Amino acid sequence: MAVQDKLGAEDLKQYYNAADGIRLSPGWLGGEEEASPELAPYLWRWSEVEPLVLKSGEVVTPDRDVERRTMRLATPGLKRGTTHTLIAALQLLLPGECAPAHRHTPTAIRWILKGHGAYTTVQGDKCYMEPGDLILTPSWTWHDHTNEGTEPMIWLDGLDVPLVRYLKANFYEPFPEDQQPVTGVGDSVRKYASGSLKPTWGEADAPYSPLWHYKWDRTYDALTNLAELGSDPFDDVSMEYTDPSTGGPVLRTMTCRIQLIRPGIQTKAHRHTSSKIYQVFRGSGYTVIDGQRFDWTEGDFFIVPSWAWHEHASTSDGEAILFSIQDIPIMKSMALYREEPYTEHAGHQPVTSQFNTGS
Ligand SMILES: [Fe+2]
Ligand SMILES: [Fe+2]
Repeated sequence: MAVQDKLGAEDLKQYYNAADGIRLSPGWLGGEEEASPELAPYLWRWSEVEPLVLKSGEVVTPDRDVERRTMRLATPGLKRGTTHTLIAALQLLLPGECAPAHRHTPTAIRWILKGHGAYTTVQGDKCYMEPGDLILTPSWTWHDHTNEGTEPMIWLDGLDVPLVRYLKANFYEPFPEDQQPVTGVGDSVRKYASGSLKPTWGEADAPYSPLWHYKWDRTYDALTNLAELGSDPFDDVSMEYTDPSTGGPVLRTMTCRIQLIRPGIQTKAHRHTSSKIYQVFRGSGYTVIDGQRFDWTEGDFFIVPSWAWHEHASTSDGEAILFSIQDIPIMKSMALYREEPYTEHAGHQPVTSQFNTGS
């Protein structure tokens, strides 16, 4: 307030007008431009989502942009994206259809939900998709999808598009043909999925995992084996998909995780600086996010915003399995990642409300 002591009200007004006139904004007045609205947690029910995704096969036909036949999980308040850095969408590919080959700088993952007999080709490597498989299409890798089976395929696309757009680095290129030439079938799995062994030639030096197909049977084996050995207080039996060449996350901007919440388990609450999109792969339970209870069942999706308290519980007789994508690698690369346990009430948040669609 020393400025006000020296300048009269009129001089001060002129001073602020002069600053405004050349687009300068005094920090001491506050009034920073509103950042994007606070992201609130949200949940989508599979029972409501699936019929509309299947119906999209009648709305968008192969001659009309089949590669864009996706339904975004559109979080209230966000014009784009599902969180401020990540986007998730459901994609449908009907028997006999092909989503033409292309590449883009945003990185994508496919988390396969339903159907058999389709494949994604990534950089020439044909990857047959089964439910529970994770397929990566890292930044600027050619990819196309073909359904040569007899049933609709549905998968979850997860991309870092909001971040890449914000950074003004979004590029896209179509391949000259609908499908790229196939140079192998499951080659990345045969080379790199054995975990502790890798080829002695052809050092992988790309900035992402050389393995781009994580098959469900291996994932499930790893998860159930780990369940006999230990668990994490905040996520129960939780595993991160890793890049076999580094041991780190599979992608520079996103990490993918799979977690088993054993029957009767309620994890403790924590929060961290990363946004998270979950899919309930199996079972049922609930997640408490900033005091609000989100009940979920098989197939549902929900988001946990950055720095929101969250804890998970299983209400299944059998296992509850959650798949998630999280933007932790971005935050760690900028030394902005932090994590904090909830220490009151024995680590559990008081539940103050219950989520209903539209609430
Ligand atoms: Fe794509
Ligand atoms: Fe967490």
